[in-house]
Amino acid sequence: GQPLRVALLGCGTVGSEVARLLIDSSADLQARIGRPLELVGIAVRRLNRPRAGLDPELFTTDAEALVGRDDVDLVVEVIGGIEPARTLILSALRHGASVVTANKALLAEDGATLFTAAEDAGVDLYFEAAVAGAIPIVRPLRESLVGDEITSVIGIVNGTTNFILDKMDGEGAGFAETLSDAQALGYAEADPTADVEGFDAAAKAAILASLAFHTRVTAADVYREGITDVTTSDIASARAIGFVVKLLAICELADPDADGQRSVSVRVHPAMIPRSHPLASVGGAYNAVFVESRSAGRLMFYGPGAGGSPTASAVLGDLVTVARNRVRGAAGPGESSYAARPVSPIDDV
Ligand code: NDP
Ligand code: HSE
Repeated sequence: GQPLRVALLGCGTVGSEVARLLIDSSADLQARIGRPLELVGIAVRRLNRPRAGLDPELFTTDAEALVGRDDVDLVVEVIGGIEPARTLILSALRHGASVVTANKALLAEDGATLFTAAEDAGVDLYFEAAVAGAIPIVRPLRESLVGDEITSVIGIVNGTTNFILDKMDGEGAGFAETLSDAQALGYAEADPTADVEGFDAAAKAAILASLAFHTRVTAADVYREGITDVTTSDIASARAIGFVVKLLAICELADPDADGQRSVSVRVHPAMIPRSHPLASVGGAYNAVFVESRSAGRLMFYGPGAGGSPTASAVLGDLVTVARNRVRGAAGPGESSYAARPVSPIDDV
């Protein structure tokens, strides 16, 4: 069949891996989709950077023109940040392309606008890579568990801070040097303040809570504390009494009040965890998410939470899914699954 044409926005830590996989795995991807994927353009900020193994002809700094092309079927957004990512995604959706994004900051700030645009255009917006890197957690909440009643989602959802805390605990390493290591390994955000001050985990918590509780939670609704005030001596003291310090995201559904109203509480902060707890053994840039629901009981999701290759795995999974939907003339779960309308009040925390 005719190729499905893919535009890639961003070619940094994640985007370069996505591009590599699109080229190296093209035969496998074609077999799984039933049609080939053709990479038709890559938008970047700087044209003069080395881009190993990629045809220089593919690159452009005019992302708006790339998403404005009527012949593009699928757009992958891995630029990050609010603008120009939001404008580009909206333009892609309005031009009829399905979109895959890893952009948690944007989804947590203005996901409802994006979902409405996708719904209006009848195309897909997928975002598995936005939460916990390679770990399948968005799709389980959005699809597999959507018939259940989820009561809590608790976990470690930022690889950079887990990597830092783990090294401070295990090796007594200093904060600054460990952060530099996390940046060099491709775990940290372009501005690592987003990681160490808890903004990245708060954005992910907002997305998880929105999906789990069928309500609209934005990053601004999330109570947030990062790890910049955690010292090596705090970690040593915790260690001495059998505890470990982890940055946790905690999303909880409260029991109904006297009027039958339910509220949700979403927060991110460092917490002391007993060494015997399963979250205590989550090391390096790994993440883990525990989900508790009425019928299923307790589920645990665990794996690599950051880095180019694990994140590209999640992006490619979404890309194959939206490509298959397109081949079938169908679309996946839409706005109602993300719940653009608030259905329960958000607690002040
Ligand atoms: P990088 O900073 O490594 O890459 C960003 C890319 O976007 C670069 O190629 C950059 O161009 C390009 N870019 C920046 N501004 C523009 C612009 N205005 N127009 C066109 N291109 C632009 O980021 P990451 O790859 O680490 O992250 C990308 C996204 O993935 C973010 O949303 C992030 O939160 C998310 N994510 C990242 C993970 C990770 O482990 N790194 C994990 C999960 C999600 P140039 O190359 O010229 O600088
Ligand atoms: N900076 C993020 C982290 C990338 O460290 O978890 C993965 O979302």
